[in-house]
Amino acid sequence: MGLMVDGEGVQEVLTPLQESEIRAGLSTRRIGTTIHLFQEVDSTNDEAVALAGRGEADGTIVIAEAQRLGRGRIGRRWQSPKGLGLYLSVILRPTIPPHDAPVLTLMGAVAGTEAIERTTGLVTAIKWPNDLIVHGRKVGGMLGEMAVEGSRLLHVILGIGINVNQTEADFDGELRQAASSLRVEAGHPIDRTAIVRSFCESLDGWYERFLCDGPLPILEHARRRCLTLGQQVTARFGDQEMSGLAVELDDDGRLVIRDAKGASHRLLAGDVTLTG
Ligand code: BTN
Repeated sequence: MGLMVDGEGVQEVLTPLQESEIRAGLSTRRIGTTIHLFQEVDSTNDEAVALAGRGEADGTIVIAEAQRLGRGRIGRRWQSPKGLGLYLSVILRPTIPPHDAPVLTLMGAVAGTEAIERTTGLVTAIKWPNDLIVHGRKVGGMLGEMAVEGSRLLHVILGIGINVNQTEADFDGELRQAASSLRVEAGHPIDRTAIVRSFCESLDGWYERFLCDGPLPILEHARRRCLTLGQQVTARFGDQEMSGLAVELDDDGRLVIRDAKGASHRLLAGDVTLTG
């Protein structure tokens, strides 16, 4: 872990990630069998797309110490300062129809919450569809992207970003209210290598289960972790907006919202604000 004790007391050292350390003790069947570790890329999702196009295997992971153009959902930027966060993308190649793929993003979110909890002890929830929340603030998010040829799914890229060792001063003004890091919430620096390993192990287990049993076990678990359910929300998708009670996560991973007139709306994607 990145802490050293010297004569003066505890001196913090933010150590770089190393492939050999990530690999040591990593017991996965698919996820992380091949690891590409970069110092800086535009976006690990873009690197993963390029590698997938060159035939990289199911479960390959791409990690970077920094991203120049880290991407969030809905065209947002993902701040990716060097050595502080986790910026990781996974190539998945399940043999499933494209319309079954969105649940894989929820699978990534479930694995992300488990990795954070196991590594830090911080209780972590999912804000639908992809935010990782600790103490009401966003510490991470998932960006799922798929490539399709005709009716065939070529690959899914699951990108996860976790704010690990940022301090409050590392967040731009407008983010400071809503975003946080594991270090801020736990009160001490966090070992990024342990988070990478734990995420790979959790994702490996869930992916195996998905391939054997389909999406329902993931959905069952995601429902338990989803803080959006039971809340009054406003959802925006494109230039449309609607408000209501988030009542359910359906078997396709869509958020079901009941409006004031009692009509149900199913969202596959969108930006959801809790208003209750
Ligand atoms: C979100 O909350 O909007 C999703 C954020 C996803 C960020 C990760 S960091 C690794 C991967 N590469 C990217 O450019 N984005 C994702």
